[in-house]
Amino acid sequence: MELKDDIKNAEVSAEAIAKVKKWNDEYFNNTGKKRKFYCLTMGCQMNAHDSEKIIGILSRMGYDKTESEDDADFIIYNTCCIRENAEEKVFGKLGVLKHLKKLKPDVIIALCGCMMQEDFVIEKIRKSYRYTDIIFGTFNFHKLPELLFTRIETGQQVIDIWKEHTGIVEDTGYIREFPYKASVNIIYGCDNYCTYCIVPYVRGHERSREKEDILNEIRLLAKDGVKEITLLGQNVNSYGKTLNPPVSFAQLLREANEIEGIERIRFMTSHPKDLSDELIYAMRDCDKVCNYLHLPFQAGSDRILEKMNRRYTKEKYLNLINKIRSEIPDIMISTDIIVGFPQETEEDFQETLDVVRKAGFSTAFTFIYSKRTGTPAAVMEGQVDEKTSHDRFNRLLDVLNEGIYRIHQDKIGKTYNVLVEKESSQPGVVTGRSTDNTLIHFNGSTDLIGKTVAVKILENKTFYLIGERI
Ligand code: 5AD
Ligand code: SF4
Repeated sequence: MELKDDIKNAEVSAEAIAKVKKWNDEYFNNTGKKRKFYCLTMGCQMNAHDSEKIIGILSRMGYDKTESEDDADFIIYNTCCIRENAEEKVFGKLGVLKHLKKLKPDVIIALCGCMMQEDFVIEKIRKSYRYTDIIFGTFNFHKLPELLFTRIETGQQVIDIWKEHTGIVEDTGYIREFPYKASVNIIYGCDNYCTYCIVPYVRGHERSREKEDILNEIRLLAKDGVKEITLLGQNVNSYGKTLNPPVSFAQLLREANEIEGIERIRFMTSHPKDLSDELIYAMRDCDKVCNYLHLPFQAGSDRILEKMNRRYTKEKYLNLINKIRSEIPDIMISTDIIVGFPQETEEDFQETLDVVRKAGFSTAFTFIYSKRTGTPAAVMEGQVDEKTSHDRFNRLLDVLNEGIYRIHQDKIGKTYNVLVEKESSQPGVVTGRSTDNTLIHFNGSTDLIGKTVAVKILENKTFYLIGERI
């Protein structure tokens, strides 16, 4: 598809922002109160970063943030549709908002994100959730000011869903959730079409940002005090293939590594089918690139991997892990695993357990297969019943946790540099991560947040470690 210049250069309308801001300023002048927004984000880091951009736009329009829905004048849900339970949660919460809207008819309710890209969702909203005000999708959040102003002027529900977007919107601006760490989009969309996954249908085809745009953004973040960046994409290994001239992800990493002020570079997600040697060498050579890799394997059986359209075998995956470990010995690897994919037998599941036993993951995100309408797997024969899936899920966790405990046990007595993130739920205890992404708690004050300190590991709690500052 051709990249249209007008779309590539699409931006947030300053005029629409000014109109909504004026409306909010008038309210402030009349009441002495500022209008407030409440933003709920579901799903992955990509959605979390989109919310940061949406919050940036809302702030520019004169809204203040609130953590209480009851207190908000503008409520926005940034939704996820990767599994059914994420969608059920949204419909459940919308039911509650109906009462709020009755009590406070002036509250504006907006829905956006992946779920809004599904036709059946929009139909359901039109029919059963008419009290929602603004509905937009993953391709046009930069249109929020125009959509909001239309809603203010007309009082009508505004629905604007784009089916595809060949371009990239630069310079939306965003307000970071954390001062010391930031996410940076490098590639949008996905062309892999794993048969269980809805993402390619709701996030569109792969579109890479220009390398210089990405590097400039990282330079600005470094100037603003950011120490850790995470480069985001559904499959970062595909980065840059369609740019002119093409750029590889490894090349981008090497150039990002040169940016002064940045201490840590992370990225996610990598697809095992195209993780190149060039990338492994870049990870090995670049001092700022963290010794951590998220590498989803999904299933261990070759038969199931083929039905999933993953384009690698169990052997290839395990060989890849060995190759990575031979270049970067202290690397920690995490993964995503699905159980109960259609036609998965006990034998297939045993292959998944075998990968877990052999790979030595430091963390894993585990899921029960969820049927997504519109994906090829949804109409496959042999859907696995719920009881069998749950039973496999529990057995998987047992094997995983044993492995995670063992990996972490090796860390006792060693010292790690920890970037402190926040105070833990226990006062006087702070929590942060080592470069290999291990969660470490230790006694310390909140002044340490955003700083990197050396911590010696004393105790293994399986999913996190306890240490002391040295
Ligand atoms: N059911 C269960 N898990 C899924 N994932 C993606 N689609 C589905 C689905 N239909 C998981 C995969 C992916 C992670 C982000 O979510 O493991 O890597
Ligand atoms: Fe979904 Fe597969 Fe793309 Fe990941 S690579 S977003 S699992 S289709």
